[in-house]
Amino acid sequence: MLEKLAQIEKEALESLAAVEDEAALESWRVANIGRSSPVMNVFSQMGGLSKEERPLVGQRANQVKVAIEAAFAEKAAAIKDAALQKSLTGEKLDVTLPGRAFHHGRLHPATQNLRRVLAILAEMGFQVYTSRDVESDEYNFQLLNIPPHHPAREMQDTFYIDTSATDEAEKQVLRTHTSPGQIRAMRQFSAENPDNPPPIRIALPGMCYRFEQITARSEVQFYQVEGLVVGENITLGDLKGTLSEFARRMFGRQAKTRFRADHFPFTEPSAEMDVECFVCGGSGCPVCKKSGWLEILGCGMVHPTVLQNGGYDPARYSGFAFGMGPERQLMLRHKINDIRYIWGNDIRFLEQF
Ligand code: DAH
Repeated sequence: MLEKLAQIEKEALESLAAVEDEAALESWRVANIGRSSPVMNVFSQMGGLSKEERPLVGQRANQVKVAIEAAFAEKAAAIKDAALQKSLTGEKLDVTLPGRAFHHGRLHPATQNLRRVLAILAEMGFQVYTSRDVESDEYNFQLLNIPPHHPAREMQDTFYIDTSATDEAEKQVLRTHTSPGQIRAMRQFSAENPDNPPPIRIALPGMCYRFEQITARSEVQFYQVEGLVVGENITLGDLKGTLSEFARRMFGRQAKTRFRADHFPFTEPSAEMDVECFVCGGSGCPVCKKSGWLEILGCGMVHPTVLQNGGYDPARYSGFAFGMGPERQLMLRHKINDIRYIWGNDIRFLEQF
């Protein structure tokens, strides 16, 4: 029996020497220390041994089992180590490679441009004022000197969202322009309010909505930035100086401007401001339709009726207002020829800004 144990140990250790990977190691383990392996069989045969033989064989069998198990543990560690070495030399890490670029999210081009407009106006002393998107007919039209059936309403096709009110003035609309905010601001910063004394100098950004066919040139929604200045002794000279300076800050120091008489019901006199075409420098190109000038905003001296509707006495106070479309400026600057790109949410377009 003792000889047999010596033989078992020798064979086990010899066959272990030939094992090289984890799969072979596992079958070796089953064959040599598993439940029906030769050493384990010796243990189950102990019952048939004499009283004298039993302790000797038992002790020896234990030694052999421990030796085989120790050899197994050592081999298992060696195989694991070899596998790790192999993977380290196999996977080379080049620390000089450039890193992978992160995809940066950024602001929508319309938001970027809107913020630029507001930053310039803020530097010039305007305070940002926001007003509601849902307006009554009264604020959107009537208080701005646009009574029912006034032809100016036809230029601004309107989304009526609640026409149940019998009184025309109470009908609810999506604002067609930011101008109703003028009335709200004047009423809030009224001439009688000691906390907010005149002058008012506000920039009023916001989304506007018009019930229009969507084409390359017209959208159902767009931003406007409205400006309003009200105080004593505000003149047309202030309007021209302020807006010319705005254009220089927005389009460059060399930017030339011109004012053309126009008509808006809420201003008198009214004008459009053009800036010399920054694409061709005024010599004429497709962007300015060969005129050399780009129309940038509408403006004028606040109509006395509008001042009065805002709670200001037109005999004492005067003011000027302007309204511009920042998306239009964006389109001119980047020669974007279709307004549908702006809110189309096409990542290929947006990624360019
Ligand atoms: N509300 C006008 C529009 O949407 C733009 C405008 C013109 C605003 C002249 C003004 C202004 O404040 O003075 O077409």
